[in-house]
Amino acid sequence: MSDTIFLDSHALLTHKLTQLRHKDCPPELFRSRMREIGRIMGCIIGDRLTVEDFSIETPLEKMTGKRLSHHPVIVPILRAGLGLADGVADVLVEADFAHIGVARNEETLQPEEYLVKIPKDLTHRDVIVVDPMLATGGSAKFTINMLKSRGAVEERIQFACLVASPEGSKILRDTFSGITIIAGALDRELNDVGYILPGLGDAGDRLYGTE
Ligand code: PRP
Ligand code: URA
Repeated sequence: MSDTIFLDSHALLTHKLTQLRHKDCPPELFRSRMREIGRIMGCIIGDRLTVEDFSIETPLEKMTGKRLSHHPVIVPILRAGLGLADGVADVLVEADFAHIGVARNEETLQPEEYLVKIPKDLTHRDVIVVDPMLATGGSAKFTINMLKSRGAVEERIQFACLVASPEGSKILRDTFSGITIIAGALDRELNDVGYILPGLGDAGDRLYGTE
């Protein structure tokens, strides 16, 4: 089921997101807050995973329970997606990983691929793409197209980010009508070099202390 969810009324998430947006938030705090938000998002993502009936015996009697029908696949878009993926994986412990390395060219703003490692067949898998920033939408679009070419179906793809721009969310929504988009916040706009305002700056650099 396709959906677009902005979590700006989630009290704990917005509290943590505001801390990491602050310009003086050091990398160690930035990493831990991002991971904690990943856990919160993991619970929201978990609500939409595919389950099947499963017979068990409790100490008292037989019953029909539920289990995940396949291992989900978490897909961090490198590098910054790794910070969010850690938190999501804390909750979705059964997940496998796919890694997509794309770096946005600072002049053209186009994604440039440098690594693709994906489990063989994604046809029946719930696929969770994570990247803190949805700016022009180029990196997310590239990644989702790559996953679809490996069998992922839109209705089982969830894209989770911390901060989305209006431009990026529209492009993603219009391009992939079947996916679910989950964002911590919808910010105001992109500036003329493709950064989200007010945003949080360069997520990868802030996460890993590079600049
Ligand atoms: C950042 C961010 C997204 C991308 C968003 O990554 O983590 O992947 O930019 O921009 P877009 O929506 O315009 O494509 P970047 O390419 O800077 O790489 P990094 O994570 O290694 O810093
Ligand atoms: N990538 C980032 O890390 N931050 C932005 O604001 C836009 C793209």
